[in-house]
Amino acid sequence: MRTTTGYSGAQIALHWLITILIPLAWLSGEGAEDALDAIREGGTAGFVPHVAFGLAILALVAVRILVRLGRGAPAAPGRPGSLPVLAADWGHRLIYLLMVAVPLGGISVWFLGLRVGDIHGLAANILMLVVLGHALMALYHQYVLKDGLIRRMMRAG
Ligand code: HEM
Ligand code: HEM
Repeated sequence: MRTTTGYSGAQIALHWLITILIPLAWLSGEGAEDALDAIREGGTAGFVPHVAFGLAILALVAVRILVRLGRGAPAAPGRPGSLPVLAADWGHRLIYLLMVAVPLGGISVWFLGLRVGDIHGLAANILMLVVLGHALMALYHQYVLKDGLIRRMMRAG
């Protein structure tokens, strides 16, 4: 992976757009459950916001991964190979993995009829927890370490 001096405008826009959409998807999951129940009982569901949020996330994450593969990303601050740097890198990889796996699970339930709704919900909860930890780490950098890390996700460089 190429190391850059900062995130691009596209990477930053995608980061914050997805940051808005993931909580919206998480909060609207119950609506999809109700819609699924209605369909399984022979009714119809109409427009299901959760499915729209979830599919939008998957599409944006696909673009985001392509941009990252093409352009690269800045190295995590700290000594290469040190525990905090490894934790940041693997944490980010885990978030990317879950951002792909969770919508694919939802698609398996909604479009393929697989009974993996519980696993999908559980994986979504894990994603929210990991992302919460991620946001807390960003705030720790900002207010405790005061190293201006959040600026990297604010201004293209
Ligand atoms: C990052 C994206 C997503 C997140 C965070 C997410 C989150 C959730 C959560 C938390 C639930 C459980 C709701 C509850 O138990 O109260 C749920 C259920 C569900 N989601 Fe998603 N979801 C995402 C993407 C998708 C996508 C793309 C689809 C379909 C195309 C989808 C379809 C469903 C369905 C059908 C259920 C109900 C499962 C069942 O009752 O068995 N989700 N989702
Ligand atoms: C659903 C919410 C979020 C998701 C899924 C998410 C995901 C990610 C991912 C995957 C990266 C690594 C980017 C890369 O190297 O390609 C990243 C970086 C970053 N995120 Fe988030 N994030 C979320 C919310 C937040 C929030 C709320 C904050 C601030 C409080 C934040 C601050 C940052 C910062 C500062 C970076 C850059 C870290 C660095 O330069 O090493 N993120 N985020």
